[in-house]
Amino acid sequence: MAKIGYGIIGCGNIGPVHAAAIAAVPAAKLVAVSDVVERTAQALSDKYGAAMYTDYRQLLERKDIQAVCLCVPSGMRMEIAVACAEAGKNVLSEKPLDVSTKRIDRIIAATDKAGVRLGCIFQSRFADGSGLIKQALDQGRFGTLVLGDAYIKWYRSPEYYASGAWRGTKKWDGGGALMNQGIHQIDLLQWFMGPVKTVKAQVTRRLHHGLEVEDTATAMLEFENGAFGVIEGSTAIWPGHPARVEIHGSEGSTYTEDGAIKFWQFTKRRAVDAKIEAQLSRESELGSGAADPLSSLKTEGHRRQIADFTQSIQQDRPPRIDGREGRNAVALIEAIYRSAATGKAVKP
Ligand SMILES: NC(=O)c1ccc[n+]([C@@H]2O[C@H](COP(=O)([O-])OP(=O)(O)OC[C@H]3O[C@@H](n4cnc5c(N)ncnc54)[C@H](O)[C@@H]3O)[C@@H](O)[C@H]2O)c1
Repeated sequence: MAKIGYGIIGCGNIGPVHAAAIAAVPAAKLVAVSDVVERTAQALSDKYGAAMYTDYRQLLERKDIQAVCLCVPSGMRMEIAVACAEAGKNVLSEKPLDVSTKRIDRIIAATDKAGVRLGCIFQSRFADGSGLIKQALDQGRFGTLVLGDAYIKWYRSPEYYASGAWRGTKKWDGGGALMNQGIHQIDLLQWFMGPVKTVKAQVTRRLHHGLEVEDTATAMLEFENGAFGVIEGSTAIWPGHPARVEIHGSEGSTYTEDGAIKFWQFTKRRAVDAKIEAQLSRESELGSGAADPLSSLKTEGHRRQIADFTQSIQQDRPPRIDGREGRNAVALIEAIYRSAATGKAVKP
């Protein structure tokens, strides 16, 4: 079967992770890259022998590209995603799909209209641990769900925020500790626990006072299934800790650190449990975002998700995380910001 040709738009920090991941997927091929900064595009083009453009519209003219990875700053995606759809390209966007559900809905409408796939990168869903937890939830192993929590207690330095003019701005980043960093675990939490019915939240800046967005947030959740939960997110805590997602029910509990299962107990044991228990000390295959956003991020999560997206095109099926799935975490974070602004409990 012919390889699926990829283009990458945005070659900054995460663009090269996409390039490495595409190179590791046998059914995919990196054809061209684009960045408005010529030397940034050139560096990635040289490394992978891909064509290079400073205007992404030229990349979209290529017939040998079927899929485009969007790695530009978060709030710049909608216009480019719509152009990709109109050019008939499948779109695989970094998280968040864009900075508001309003802008995301325009992306979904454009890709639906063009009949192309829309995928949203949430590589944490592709961690082995995430799959095992989802399976146990689908099998009802936790009994009645009682609490579901996400703790993202991270550190980002002033230099990190200074490294891009878009970082920490409302328009381009959309939010801070939750919309940019904690969104991975927030996505996991609602994927595991189901939709949130109400949220009561507060946000603040404890360290990074120059930002327009929060560096610290807490939210109390009630899920539609009646369980409660909390989200705590920060980029102001030194030295930064592994992100935890906890699921607790009347018949079992688990928690993960950076997607690796660290606790796993159920009232009724199954054969799979011994194998999972034997791996509780295993490090995450995804790396950790606790302190340094990139040197510790591994490409494995992106590789798995790009392999799925590539297959979805070849097999003419939806990708595992489509646009509507990708939208959910942004809708919940928007509700958190609304609650923090009004002091009221709100519905996502
Ligand atoms: N999945 C993850 O774990 C993960 C990790 C890091 C970043 N991200 C996401 O990736 C996105 C980019 O983050 P980053 O850290 O790579 O940012 P960055 O600033 O390092 O890179 C963005 C690049 O986009 C380029 N760009 C801007 N407008 C463009 C345009 N019109 N055409 C072509 N290129 C353009 C910029 O010149 C820059 O090189 C963000 O949305 C972020 O949330 C995801």
